[in-house]
This record gives sequence, C-alpha cells and structure tokens, in this order.
Amino acid sequence: MGDPLRLGLIGFGNVGSGVVKALEENRELLAARCPRPLELRRIADIDLERRRPVTVDPKLLTTDAESVVRDPEIDVIIELIGGIEPARTLVETALAEGKSVVTANKAMLASHGPELLALAAEKGVRLLFEAAVGGGIPVVRALCESLAANKIERIQGILNGTSNYILSQMIYEEMSYEEALAEAQTLGYAEPDPTADVEGIDAANKIAILASLAFGFDIRYSDVYRVGISKLTRQDHKIAATEQYVIKPLATAEITEPGAVGISVQPAVVSISSPLATVGDVMNGIIIEGFPVGVVFLVGPGAGPEPTASAVLGDLMALSLLESDRAAPRPFLEIPVGKRPRITAECDCDGYWIRVFHRGGPDALAEIVCVLTEEHVPILKCIEEEREGDESGVSRVVVVLTDTALWEDIRCVVRRLGEAEWLEPDTSVLVMPRFD
Ligand code: HSE
Repeated sequence: MGDPLRLGLIGFGNVGSGVVKALEENRELLAARCPRPLELRRIADIDLERRRPVTVDPKLLTTDAESVVRDPEIDVIIELIGGIEPARTLVETALAEGKSVVTANKAMLASHGPELLALAAEKGVRLLFEAAVGGGIPVVRALCESLAANKIERIQGILNGTSNYILSQMIYEEMSYEEALAEAQTLGYAEPDPTADVEGIDAANKIAILASLAFGFDIRYSDVYRVGISKLTRQDHKIAATEQYVIKPLATAEITEPGAVGISVQPAVVSISSPLATVGDVMNGIIIEGFPVGVVFLVGPGAGPEPTASAVLGDLMALSLLESDRAAPRPFLEIPVGKRPRITAECDCDGYWIRVFHRGGPDALAEIVCVLTEEHVPILKCIEEEREGDESGVSRVVVVLTDTALWEDIRCVVRRLGEAEWLEPDTSVLVMPRFD
C-alpha cells in the first residue's frame, strides 16, 4: 500500500457532508481499491456551528480555507464551496502550490476552467471535475476517456434536475409553475433564490463545460444562449400533450459547421417517443452523438449529496491511482485557452413552437400567420384556444408549430410579434429537437 493521499476539503455543506459520509461508509471498499489510501486530514467551512448529518473529529475543522490549500501536509484539495469566488482563487492557489484539485464547481469551470486546467498542466497536477456535470452520471470521464476516439457532433440533454422536477410536476401533477417551484423548494431541490436553476444558468454552465471538452474549443458560460422555464404555463403543457410532446429543459451543443458551435439552454417540446421524454423527476439525461460510436444515452441522478459524492470519490480514486507508482497518462482531452469557435444559438431541429397570447379578435391568427409567411417560416400547424385563467375571456393563446426554419428568421418573427400592440409581450419560442 502506498503513502496516504492526504485530503483537504473546503466547503462542508450538503455535498461536503455527503462526501465525508461516503468516505466513511465505503471505507473498506475504498481501501481495497485505492493504491494510495484516501485520508481526510482537514475540513474548512465558514460555518462550523451548523448541524450536519455526519460527525467529524473537531480537530480537522477550521474556518481558514486558505490555510488548507497552502498546507504542505495536504496533497489534494476537494473544492465544494461552489460559486466563482472565493472558490476560484482558492483552487488557483492550490494548483499553484502543486496540489491536485477535485471540484464540483460548474460556475467556476464554465467561466475560468481553461485557465485553471492550463495552470494544472503547467504544475504537473490534475484538476478533476466529474461532479460538476450530471451529478452521479459519469459523463465527463465518458467524454474524456471512453469516447475520446470519437468526433463528437452533438450533446443534448436535461442537465438541471430542479427545472426537470418543476416541469414534470406541472405535466403530471397538474401544478402551476408557482406550486411546483414551492414544492421543489420544500424538498430541498431548489434554493430559496431559484434563479440559477429555473433561468438556465446552472445548465448553461454545465453545457459550456461539456461542449469545451467534446469539441476542443474554449467555450464559456457567456457563450450560451439561455432561456429559463419560469414563463411556461400549465396550458403550454396541455397543448404539448395533445400534440404528443412534453416540455423539457433542454441544453444543446453541436457543431453546426466546421469551426462553429451552436449552444443553448431553453425549454423544448420533446416528442414523447424521444428517450429524453422518459427522464422525469429530478433526473438528468444526456445524449451524445459522435463518430464512430453513434448515439449514447446516459441517464441518472443529476443532483444531491450522494450522487455528487459518488462522482467526487471516483475522481479521488483516479488521483489515488494517478499519483501512485502505477500512474496513468494525462487525460486525452484538453480545453485550449483562447481557441474560440464561432458561436450561435442555432441547433439542428425539426422546427419551432411559437406561443403567443393575443387580444386581437378574429383576425389575429391570420395576422400572426402573415408575419411568419413574410419571414419565410414554414408553418405546420396553428392551434388557438381561450387563454386559461383569463377572467375577461378576451385573451387567447396561439401556438404555431413550424417546420425547420432559419434561427435568424425565427428571431425576426419574434421581434415583429413583439412590436404588435394586440399581442402580450411574453412570446415563447420552444425548439423542437431532432432525435435520430
Ligand atoms: N441545482 C442543480 C440541479 C444541481 O438542480 O440540477 C447542482 O448542479
């Protein structure tokens, strides 16, 4: 057995507690499988008073995270603070001190990952982040190792469990958006401020990380076209159901042409025959398309202390091997700093679903159709109904299903509809993804 791999944990919240608990509960299995035993030596958190589901030796605890990342008696830092600062500075310091880092921090990676990975490479250490995307789903290692021989063409998936839970409750339990959000908060899925989940920020961070790895470009959070789920209504789901669709929070990244990447997070109308339609509750599902593998579908728990602990421990075990005399080579995939693709919000889809609310009387539908026709957007079907919940009975909802259309033309339609006084401003465009 090799020397222990001495671990310093920074961030002892829900996920940190999950990691400590799993280290304890799987102690024997980990000892048998790790060439260097995993030894938790220090834990830093700003709040040492809060109750946690695990007990640790108080001598391990400190409020001084910087002293942990600089501690020469620590080999590996587990960063579970979340958010960009102070996590980024602490991780940078740890890497500069020659320590490998395991992190679940998607926000930090999606904004500063390429520089941090470059620093790790310069210092000859590792920055591993399986837990940053898809919780317990082994998607990062799948891309970096098992699928590394592939030209990846597209990644599409449900990357935010909270949004998926809210939409699933709206579909299957007939809840309003507000009711479903309140339930997600009660169950601890959604934060008191749910913005990062429901406005697609969390999923945008995750798809930027996957796209960078898959396509070998420097792609950041700010590149992602992003629309949240908070404007969707029960009636949107009902209309989708009558057309054999479900609305899902979809993240997409694909090569649209050589050197160009379409990357977006937006609600999408997904055919009920698609594998993603079966991904309910707080689950995540990810479809990877590449050559020569074809289509791979990964599904599993995308959030929560235990699935995240599984991913963190997997990375620690990899380090135990990498930093032993049985060391394996560097990962195959890298994210080159500054190697930028042309970014677009486009994706290869079957069409779009445009939903508007109007108070325009009997000619309104014809006027909407006229705008689409003038902008060269082919129409497959129009649905018009009374708007649910409108006491006056004047307001109506129109859903237009289009055939494939240029994204620019769809943007023109939305702009022109936005100028019509008889329309309410909250026009929604939902992509209808293509599934092979
Ligand atoms: N809040 C995230 C989700 C989990 O709901 O999927 C952490 O990324």
